[in-house]
Amino acid sequence: MVEIIAHRGSSGDYPENTMTAFKEAEKALADGIEMDVRFTKDKQLVVIHDETVDRTTDGKGKVSEYNLADLKQLNAAANHPNHPKKEEILTLKEYLDWASKTHLILNIEVKYSKDTYFEYEKDILNLLANYHLGDRLIISSFNVDGLAKIAKLAPQVKLGLLYSKKINQPEEYISEYGIEALHPSKKLTNKELITLAKEKQIPIRIFTVNKVKEMERFFEMGCTSMITDYPKLALKVRNKKIL
Ligand code: G3P
Ligand code: CA
Repeated sequence: MVEIIAHRGSSGDYPENTMTAFKEAEKALADGIEMDVRFTKDKQLVVIHDETVDRTTDGKGKVSEYNLADLKQLNAAANHPNHPKKEEILTLKEYLDWASKTHLILNIEVKYSKDTYFEYEKDILNLLANYHLGDRLIISSFNVDGLAKIAKLAPQVKLGLLYSKKINQPEEYISEYGIEALHPSKKLTNKELITLAKEKQIPIRIFTVNKVKEMERFFEMGCTSMITDYPKLALKVRNKKIL
């Protein structure tokens, strides 16, 4: 069965990467959650997508130029059209304290910026080690060097390469870096790529699949997982396909 992974939580209906969006994804019976990690000026790991706080909060500036205490003052739901409740930007620890107690697949995307510090990956892995997530944990990134570093530090952790530009012989490319899975954009994904992944027994997780027609197409093709802003809708479409 194709797994449904809620992209930044149930972010189609709730403010992305917030505790509400994550809890709603669990309520919607998603199989997993995808979210984004960055770091603050005082090297705290936080859950936010963009390099700056401008789009999703009432603040301005780079996440990496805020100390955690100041970042915590911001409202991560400030720019959402219909969410009056204040949402804090979560630390990765706060997210994991909750998520580790669920049965969800946890896809953590590691975000990079020019000012990324040397021990970033090590700090993420050290924190994750407290939770014993085993096969429930997937670390993904667009940054192949970052993933290669993680593969060396923690060879037991499952890794997925995010990409939105075509890679020739992707199965060979990822194996060079110790990466297990392909996480291609939907535009790059066709029957041929999914068949290749199946033949090579490579997990393939497609992002970001939000329209019913696309969902139907990828459920039929039989990828490993579908990453979507609308897990509730994806569940409906999947149930209809199974019946
Ligand atoms: O994991 C899939 C997707 O999250 C990658 O793109 O920009 O939404 O982080 P983005
Ligand atoms: Ca992401």
